[in-house]
Amino acid sequence: MAMKMVVPFFLFPILRLHFLLLHDHSPLIGNPEGTTCYHFVIIACHTRVQRNVNLEKLRTGYLFPEISMHELQHIRKYPDAKLINLGIGDTTKPIPEIISVSMAEYARALSTVEGYRGYGAEQGNKALRKAIAETFYKNVQVKDSEVFVSDGSQCDIARLQLLLGSNVTVAVQDPSFPAYIDTSVIMGQAGDFEEKSGKFGNIEYMKCGPQNNFFPELAKTRRTDIIFFCSPNNPTGYAATRQQLEELVKFAKANGSIIIFDSAYAVYVTDDSPRSIFEIPGAKEVAIEVSSFSKFAGFTGVRLGWTVVPEELCFSNGFPVINDFNRIVCTCFNGASNIAQAGGLACLSSEGFMAVCSVVDYYRENAKILLKTLKSLGLKVYGGENAPYVWAQFPGSKSWDVFDDILEKAHVITVPGSGFGPGGEEFMRISAFGHRETILEASKRLKGLFS
Ligand SMILES: Cc1ncc(COP(=O)(O)O)c(C=O)c1O
Repeated sequence: MAMKMVVPFFLFPILRLHFLLLHDHSPLIGNPEGTTCYHFVIIACHTRVQRNVNLEKLRTGYLFPEISMHELQHIRKYPDAKLINLGIGDTTKPIPEIISVSMAEYARALSTVEGYRGYGAEQGNKALRKAIAETFYKNVQVKDSEVFVSDGSQCDIARLQLLLGSNVTVAVQDPSFPAYIDTSVIMGQAGDFEEKSGKFGNIEYMKCGPQNNFFPELAKTRRTDIIFFCSPNNPTGYAATRQQLEELVKFAKANGSIIIFDSAYAVYVTDDSPRSIFEIPGAKEVAIEVSSFSKFAGFTGVRLGWTVVPEELCFSNGFPVINDFNRIVCTCFNGASNIAQAGGLACLSSEGFMAVCSVVDYYRENAKILLKTLKSLGLKVYGGENAPYVWAQFPGSKSWDVFDDILEKAHVITVPGSGFGPGGEEFMRISAFGHRETILEASKRLKGLFS
């Protein structure tokens, strides 16, 4: 609770008032246009509840809202510029009709006595769990009962953190998708942020760049309880090879660690890189996999994902991890929307699957165009072949400076690599999730800027 008021400074401690820096799109100070600038406001505290110290540690905002702020400032500065957003990895193509119709029909039936459904199974609709197991894990014997349907993989990452608690140690690829580190910090697994290194204490940052073929030097990696690993990777676009993932599983086994493998971009793999960690023999004893319909079927707004917890995976005392995950899901989630699950089932029908794969092909083609453009400019560019992201290197530059330059001169939003960790400095992530004409226009502008 807070309010706008004018109060003499000397009364601040008595009235428990504080200065707070706010963006003016905060509802607190009323800003219907949603434009951005900063204000100091005085906050009158009405509670004695301390802020969660772990959230205080996060310091800056989550990366993508931060980018949106830059976007709003740019629009204010150049209201007539035709801004192109290749920043946040959000899908743009419509969901194929066969899928949206199945969701619409399900929703309509909810208004009938016969079609009405209330709570479903917390773990997800049986038919959908089966379809996920059969579609994505056909040759690796994942059981339907090991698949937990969710409202998206980011939510499952947070729920897995809840399962693990604050006492585990964590390793992440550097750079990596911000949710792994941020949820670790929120859970209290991390130490303080160290300004100099740009890292949180107590988190093992596994540097992944062109110098090590985007795979961590495991011999130099400290043992941790948990290893977050994303392949194909966001942001680098790199898909780990079978041999690399075999090494990773061997490393986890030797250390008694659990890998949380994020396969949100698995459908973008075009070569023989594994699409699931469970393609690696022995992985079921050391790995959990989170995945999503978001980038596979344009469900970023519909919200649907899943997590596979193998029965073989146990804690140090022999207790099955799947039992605890089931408990978390039942207590903290209660199941994915039944309308979204109807859409998920339609995606996995043969016709639906073909339809979503053609959208994936479209984004792949976009990535090829961006890759070709940036390569033609003599830049060192990675990713883009097994993922909808292109990872461009600007040696010697600060990535926020490159971001500002591209935005200012080409009116194109990208993502500065350093937003994904210190290992992303000098790099920019460019998303291929746009419409073709936007990708072509952005390519033209980037050519104009860098040639
Ligand atoms: C690697 C990775 N994992 C998870 C997510 C979140 O996906 P969802 O929409 O299923 O929460 C994203 C989204 O961009 C991602 O890049």
